[in-house]
Amino acid sequence: MKKIFSFLCLIAAIVVAMSACSSTKEEKGTSETGNAALDNIFARKSVRTYLNKGVEKEKIDLMLRAGMAAPSGKDVRPWEFIVVSDRAKLDSMAAALPYAKMLTQARNAIIVCGDSVRSSYWYLDCSAAAQNILLAAESLGLGAVWTAAYPYEDRMQVVRKYTNLPDNILPLCVIPFGYPATKENPKQKFDEKKIHYNQY
Ligand SMILES: Cc1cc2nc3c(=O)[nH]c(=O)nc-3n(C[C@H](O)[C@H](O)[C@H](O)COP(=O)(O)O)c2cc1C
Repeated sequence: MKKIFSFLCLIAAIVVAMSACSSTKEEKGTSETGNAALDNIFARKSVRTYLNKGVEKEKIDLMLRAGMAAPSGKDVRPWEFIVVSDRAKLDSMAAALPYAKMLTQARNAIIVCGDSVRSSYWYLDCSAAAQNILLAAESLGLGAVWTAAYPYEDRMQVVRKYTNLPDNILPLCVIPFGYPATKENPKQKFDEKKIHYNQY
């Protein structure tokens, strides 16, 4: 009887220890690599379905700050960001952009634009800014996706039409975002064959 009791105590202790371990992990947000920034990079994925729930202004501001923290050639920072929350504009762009239909579900989108006069490679700087925005969204519990405007003249024209951009400001991409309606998993993309040391 005593042996059975000790055995049960041991099992109970193991169960308690295991659940304590896992909850500590969740509470701390500890992760795969032990590095929050890298975990966020590995967790990011395109999210195309959103809840009908507004995103707090503080979170949108953080996404914009993240965009502006990107590197840029000669530190020119040729970017401009249009935050669209006007339902009619979002729906009109969704109707006219072939691969941005998820704009009908999103309550907000950020359009990353660049000044082509200030920098001939504005689209490179703005791509870095767009990626920072996507990473910020992921880290804030939001879902977002890059939808292309540049280099498609027709799509850029659609964006220009609804955002009143001056001629020198070109739209790179439209990023719809919101609280995810579905749980997506990041794609596993690591491929050793893509790595070359010293030569191809
Ligand atoms: C330059 C560029 C253009 C893209 N255009 C679109 C688009 O128009 N519509 C869309 O739904 N996704 C678009 N995407 C998202 C890609 O489809 C997505 O990043 C890719 O499938 C990899 O999936 P992941 O982002 O979940 O890792 C674009 C991504 C990039 C970088």
